[in-house]
Amino acid sequence: MSYDPAQEGARMSFQGRMSYGDYLCLDPILTAQHPKSQAHDEMLFIIQHQTSELWMKLALHEMAAARVRIAAGDLKPAFKMLTRVARIMEQLNSAWDVLRTMTPSEYTEFRETLGESSGFQSHQYRMIEFVAGNRNMAMIRPHEHRPELVAPLLAEAERPSLYDEVVGRLRAAGFDVPARRKLDQPHQPDPQARAAWAQVYRDPHRYWELYELAEKLVDFEDYFRRWRFNHVTTVERIIGFKRGSGGTSGVNYLRRMLDVVLFPDLWELRTDL
Ligand code: HEM
Repeated sequence: MSYDPAQEGARMSFQGRMSYGDYLCLDPILTAQHPKSQAHDEMLFIIQHQTSELWMKLALHEMAAARVRIAAGDLKPAFKMLTRVARIMEQLNSAWDVLRTMTPSEYTEFRETLGESSGFQSHQYRMIEFVAGNRNMAMIRPHEHRPELVAPLLAEAERPSLYDEVVGRLRAAGFDVPARRKLDQPHQPDPQARAAWAQVYRDPHRYWELYELAEKLVDFEDYFRRWRFNHVTTVERIIGFKRGSGGTSGVNYLRRMLDVVLFPDLWELRTDL
């Protein structure tokens, strides 16, 4: 007799009941892969991007909630959320190992079918940058044909970033650090914030929560940098120095992005210790 899980109480009939696939809306997700060529590897390419976008969605969910908690001074739940964001970045970093199995010959088979589409036009990636505080308004332009994507990015650019709220905690602890006036720009190094952070790092026991908060952001940026590095290395491995499908110089553009610093004060203070 073969084993029948129904005997242990497993439900086997879902007529009129919510099943696993219903709850997770698997039908739309698993029917959303539409390769435009006959190339075997196009499926990998599509799923790799789609799963990355799903993880980005979760990262944004956690970052938004962490920012609310930080603003309220409720740091412990924020620590947990920021740890999760770092783990998501780690997950995205490991995912490059799968994509790396695709060779230039295999990518070339379907490259033309992508047209001008590129991760450069990922609105969720831009939103992650905007929430963290790396705000370049020019990056909104590829979405101008989709006002429903532009509106949240514009609204985000007027809001204090995750890092602005973290600096708000420095102020709440009595440090004299001015609030940023121009919110729609990337964070510039701020000598007062850098000095305040140096004080925190010189006396971690006195400022433990601020110290831990700063380290959570550094973790996040550390993983984010690894993601950018893995991306550019994978891209060079697959397309060499060809132009990107999004129209940039490709690897040279991505190398330039390696210089982006999300939280300059937190990196610069290290030199002061
Ligand atoms: C064969 C694999 C890949 C290649 C050849 C590739 C190539 C490129 C290139 C050349 C760019 C620069 C913009 C352009 O001109 O297109 C770019 C940007 C980007 N790609 Fe990829 N990519 C690949 C996979 C991925 C994957 C799996 C993701 C995950 C979502 C991704 C996300 C991004 C993002 C977010 C950007 C914008 C980066 C920025 O502006 O800082 N890419 N990609």
